[in-house]
Amino acid sequence: MPSGQSASLLWRGGSLLVVLVALYTYIRIPSTSIPTPNLSDISTATVYTLPPLPYAYDALEPQISNQIMELHHSKHHQTYVTNLNKAIKDGGTNKSLMKFNGGGHINHSLFWKNLAPAGSAETSGVAGSKLKAVIKHKWGSQEAFETAFSAALLGIQGSGWGWLVKKANGELEIVTTKDQDPITGATPIVGVDMWEHAYYLQYLNGKAAYVENIWKIINWKVAEERFLSESQDEFKELKAMF
Ligand SMILES: [Fe+2]
Repeated sequence: MPSGQSASLLWRGGSLLVVLVALYTYIRIPSTSIPTPNLSDISTATVYTLPPLPYAYDALEPQISNQIMELHHSKHHQTYVTNLNKAIKDGGTNKSLMKFNGGGHINHSLFWKNLAPAGSAETSGVAGSKLKAVIKHKWGSQEAFETAFSAALLGIQGSGWGWLVKKANGELEIVTTKDQDPITGATPIVGVDMWEHAYYLQYLNGKAAYVENIWKIINWKVAEERFLSESQDEFKELKAMF
């Protein structure tokens, strides 16, 4: 073979090799350079924060003291938020920790908003009149409803919450949950914290007096907004991680 012809063949062979290498690299790059997202990557990006109270720490006095509100919000609720973020950072695999601290964050976030200072427009007899009409239809009167709710609250053994909820079929119901279990499968309308940290510093073992006074500071405007709202559960994503 003439030397010019063999040089040409060698050059063509080299070019083919370069093209094959380039093609291989082109095909490989997408599968190695784009990371595959997984749930732990998504959840580590989620950081929850303590929501501010919609009123001052002393705004609910005398029904709930400044001291209780400050500790309850800035220490207890903050601890649920801190531990929830830690559980998420650790991969969210400890479902018990996720549910306890996530539920604590959800329940307290709902609780602060469904309270308001006694004597305010939100706690007045005419506030939430559409919701109260449905309550009256089901329980006979507002007083009968509050008596039934109070009995449910005082019947909780250990730590837990009492709730007025709207079921999927639209009906109202009084339910209780233990520890920090959040409401699922229904819309929470009014929640009452029955953990000792919610009342003990002020009421000591007088749980019934705390329950009697809580009715003076229920925000019926917020309760009615929750009852009438058709928007999705704002904590749906968090509950899905439990
Ligand atoms: Fe609490």
